[in-house]
Amino acid sequence: MKDAAPTAIHLADYRPPNYLIDEVHLSFRLDPGATRVISRIRFRANPEGLDDGNLILDGEKLRLVEARIDGSPLTALDYLLTDTHLTVPAARLPGDSFVWEAEVEIAPRDNTALEGLYMSNGMYCTQSEAEGFRKITFYPDRPDVMAPFTVRIESELPVLLSNGNQTSQGPGFAEWHDPWPKPAYLFALVAGDLRPVSDRFTTMDGKEVALNIWVRPGDEDRCGYAMDALKRSMTWEENVYRRAYDLDIFNIVAVDDFNMGAMENKGLNIFNSKYVLASPETATDRDFDFIERIIAHEYFHNWTGNRITCRDWFQLCLKEGLTVFRDQQFTEDMRSAPVKRIEDVLQLRTRQFREDAGPLAHNVRPDSYIEINNFYTATVYEKGAELIRMLRLLVGVEAYDQALQLYFDRHDGQACTIEDWLAVFEDVTARDLSQFKRWYTQAGTPHVTVREHFEDGTYRLTLRQTVPPTPDQPLKEPAVIPVAFGLLSPAGIETHPTRIIELVDPETTIVIDGLAERPVPSLLRGFSAPVILDHAPSFEDRALLLAHDTDPFNRWEAGRSLARETLLAMLADGTAPAPAFLDGLARLAADETLDADFRALALALPSEDDIAQGAVDAGLVPDPTAIHATRKTLKETIGRHLKPTLDALYEAMDPGPVYSPDAGQSGKRALRNAALGLTAHLDAGERALAHYEAADNMTDQLAGFGCLLDIGDPDIATRFHDQWRDDRLVMDKWFLLQIAHAAPEKAVALAETLTGHPLFDWKNPNRFRSLVSGLTVGNPAGFHDPSGAGYAFLADWLIRLDRLNPQTAARMSTAFETWKRYDADRQALIAAELTRIAGTDGLSPDLSEMIARIRA
Ligand code: ARG
Ligand code: ZN
Repeated sequence: MKDAAPTAIHLADYRPPNYLIDEVHLSFRLDPGATRVISRIRFRANPEGLDDGNLILDGEKLRLVEARIDGSPLTALDYLLTDTHLTVPAARLPGDSFVWEAEVEIAPRDNTALEGLYMSNGMYCTQSEAEGFRKITFYPDRPDVMAPFTVRIESELPVLLSNGNQTSQGPGFAEWHDPWPKPAYLFALVAGDLRPVSDRFTTMDGKEVALNIWVRPGDEDRCGYAMDALKRSMTWEENVYRRAYDLDIFNIVAVDDFNMGAMENKGLNIFNSKYVLASPETATDRDFDFIERIIAHEYFHNWTGNRITCRDWFQLCLKEGLTVFRDQQFTEDMRSAPVKRIEDVLQLRTRQFREDAGPLAHNVRPDSYIEINNFYTATVYEKGAELIRMLRLLVGVEAYDQALQLYFDRHDGQACTIEDWLAVFEDVTARDLSQFKRWYTQAGTPHVTVREHFEDGTYRLTLRQTVPPTPDQPLKEPAVIPVAFGLLSPAGIETHPTRIIELVDPETTIVIDGLAERPVPSLLRGFSAPVILDHAPSFEDRALLLAHDTDPFNRWEAGRSLARETLLAMLADGTAPAPAFLDGLARLAADETLDADFRALALALPSEDDIAQGAVDAGLVPDPTAIHATRKTLKETIGRHLKPTLDALYEAMDPGPVYSPDAGQSGKRALRNAALGLTAHLDAGERALAHYEAADNMTDQLAGFGCLLDIGDPDIATRFHDQWRDDRLVMDKWFLLQIAHAAPEKAVALAETLTGHPLFDWKNPNRFRSLVSGLTVGNPAGFHDPSGAGYAFLADWLIRLDRLNPQTAARMSTAFETWKRYDADRQALIAAELTRIAGTDGLSPDLSEMIARIRA
């Protein structure tokens, strides 16, 4: 029987499950085209379930071989089977508790969606989150049903892994038992010819844990950094959150074909190989940074996600926002905290503010969805993390720690909601968080408008908050916005150190008197809330903050806003960059009291997409072609103006002969490569070529490569290709960078040519993303070519990929989310492509939901 078209699921419709599970036994007989999955599940009626008492199991693309209840085989009359569910009516059930057994057949080899059990390079692996387990067997595939799992795997492959501890092993089989009750989305299985890189860890409870990273033969020497990051994550979490690991073994597997970054399956994390494998020659400093961060993130999920999970998928931010916040804290401790904060805010603005400003805006806790995979977004993850950062700021560090301990103690083993989360803070602090909760239930980025008044030694600061309307939410209520601020004197001395103003009303005024001179405010220090500050301080005030603010984030922010303003003025009427701006930049770049990585960030110009959003905020229609040209001009102007400083930095920032990805060295490389990038055009690429040739690490090689591509070196792409053609992760960079650095008018044609390259394996998500986002993200002026060729290119590939891998296709469609920013011609071209995609037969629910939301 066929189900109707997929419909939206609403948070308000949540009902507890009819049955809970005491234990699960799974047995897999692996075969590429015909894997048998035998399940034995002990069910028990949930006193809170519906009165109807029906047993409802999710199941998709499963061939049912046989099913039994309490040992008696079921006939087709005993249940109702659709494309998505198997329902046994209460009348056919023997009572309140019973054992369900089923044997199903699935074909991992044909699973190109990479959800459920699939194959990658001859190895079997799984992705169960969010709703992939229903493609493995019939099961109540919802996170509020938790159970201990016992798994038997039969296969001739040498390495057979599942969750928990291994209980037995022999020729052709292995058995695993996971004692910690878990929802099905944390189930995992891996089987393949894999090699371990092993280590040990002793927890603070004295438990000995075996650590393994499993990779394809030949990749063993690229796991050292990931292993180191894992051990540091384990220690950090014990020290900071007082939580330890809870199994005898912790396995990580690297997989080449993976839709997302990584997955926190209990005791068996599965990673996109790009976030595990690294050597100095093949991975950049940025790659190392990501590996550290994602290893930590998945490990931290063991407590925030696994031991305490989500009641339903609307609560996704409960585990993701919190775990992102924790991985941010970890990186702040491992590296430079101010630099990390700046990078996180850059990401937030680039991805989350963009989402909030467009048709895909949604609450951190959404109210409804069609395909939950479409809600693994920057809003749920990154804005979700900002909400926790604000909570910590509002209640204070100590209360935060107490609330977290209460959360762990009270909810261990449970599937929880945002209400449960806020309740621990309310219980610890006796503070009412109902207004704060609006951050979870209202979409959109709040604006805080600033008015200042100074007279007779009295300074009045008025802050007004508004949230623009978002889809389905025309009106918003004021939220609680913590604004960290301090005051500086006109001479640049801090007269009032940081304090927090809590905005709870639409408008708040602060009065400070007894001032000798008009102060310069430093507002939203450390980016204390995810808001847009509508404030236009004078050029002088910003230059003063850039030079003297005690808050490193706001120092950077002042420089950033000067750069944005400079670019917008250049765009509007060709105004040349102010010499004071260029001099300020030069002084900052040369300031040895500042960390190199901070200076590198200060030298980086806003991205083309940022400038486009800046134009929109200024009431203009962005022209991607002009933005590209203007940004290039400013880059060249900076290069010329700062040449002596940049040359000196290039010489001085040599990190030394032995490569290390740590913050100190990578900061030097970042600053040195920034200096190279700003000056490369001045000597026709001579230094860039020497840099490229001398590079003994991928960070430097890629920096040189990018400059040479910009300059149009005719041989460099081939040279790079010939050196790295056998390395899949490096070749992803080759595809991406060439397109990103192509002249805009040539970018689409190049992307098209490269889709015909023998190494363009479009079924591999990393490769597909590299090529397509090389255009859509890496080369906005190329993507928005006035001919519409970029739009047609993306639409063609989305339609094509959707048939194989809906999840990745849906994710890539967000390149269209900003379409309403642009001129009428571009909008018409995009609208036509969106219509074409929407009209495609057999479109997945994933992509059709995205396209419908983008078009609305
Ligand atoms: N829970 C994973 C993480 O954040 C992400 C998995 C998302 N997968 C998906 N198919 N939506 O670490
Ligand atoms: Zn996560």
